Amino acid sequence: MTLLEVKDLKTYFDTSKGLYKAVDGTSFDLDYGEALGLVGESGCGKTTCALSITRLLPKEGKIHGGEILFEKTDLVKLNDNEIRARRWKDVSIIFQGSMNALNPVMKVGDQIAEAVVFHEKVSRKEALKRAEELFELVEMPAKRINNYPHEFSGGMKQRAMIAMALACNPKVIIGDEPTTALDVMVQAQILNLLEKLRKELRMGLILITHDLSILAETCDKIAVMYAGKIVEIGTVDDIFMRTGHPYTQRLISCFPNVGKEKILPPAIEGVPPNLLEPIKGCSFYPRCHMGIPICLEIEPESRELGGKHFAACHRSGEVSHE
Ligand SMILES: Nc1ncnc2c1ncn2[C@@H]1O[C@H](COP(=O)(O)OP(=O)(O)OP(=O)(O)O)[C@@H](O)[C@H]1O
Ligand SMILES: [Mg+2]
Repeated sequence: MTLLEVKDLKTYFDTSKGLYKAVDGTSFDLDYGEALGLVGESGCGKTTCALSITRLLPKEGKIHGGEILFEKTDLVKLNDNEIRARRWKDVSIIFQGSMNALNPVMKVGDQIAEAVVFHEKVSRKEALKRAEELFELVEMPAKRINNYPHEFSGGMKQRAMIAMALACNPKVIIGDEPTTALDVMVQAQILNLLEKLRKELRMGLILITHDLSILAETCDKIAVMYAGKIVEIGTVDDIFMRTGHPYTQRLISCFPNVGKEKILPPAIEGVPPNLLEPIKGCSFYPRCHMGIPICLEIEPESRELGGKHFAACHRSGEVSHE
């Protein structure tokens, strides 16, 4: 059984200017113990995807179509009570910028224990013991549960947030830019930790980032998102060695080899399309260096390029690295 299958997900925001199609036909799947990287420029819909899967969308955001099958149960169809009973247990999330979300006037262990008591209906004493175990799991001394957030470094706060996300033994964990605010050394430690936990606990991991080089080191598969759609998905080798979409190619060229300076976020000329307007043809056409007349007329379908490698481009077989 596949752990998580997202099929043709459509999540739109109701705005004063009309429906904003932040996620518009996204599909991917995730297996036990597998890591999927989700990458793309700011605003392409990565967080909206994560908030759809965890059903934590703001009230103006609604799922308009598609399925999110968690072990065959469609999370889209669950009512609020049903989803509340499953969230954090089935699918858990480390939010973008979450390490600043710790309550400054409460001991970190108490905050984790509070979450455990809420979800697991155990005593406070048991919950504190669980907080200690979780601290050890994320490689922090158990006694540090008695500290306040200001006594922690950025990396330790992020470890505490990971501990919190693991409190109910989730089968899928989504990390939304979990290391962005951290320096490179600490980033690597946190990513190693997530990798260790994924393997030990056989969790599925969805790692969201702007940084393709992080995904190359951490993930089995990479999904490249552009304007609410996955334009290419495949193994790390598929994406880097057999690139099938010009957008992926441009993203890769924004990330020079390790050791050189990175440009963050990727600097690709032009801007993504306005998702309030209907798009004719390929949404990447105005910025594409490989565009041909058909791209203006017909939206490219996702085509198989061998194995589980797919790209949505009329010229997907011709993309090369110059
Ligand atoms: N509550 C909202 N109301 C209206 N539009 C929204 C809302 N939340 C997000 N959007 C829009 O949806 C689009 C996708 O946003 P999302 O946060 O998913 O992007 P992202 O890929 O996570 O970007 P980033 O890399 O900057 O985190 C953006 O253009 C954003 O402005
Ligand atoms: Mg985001």
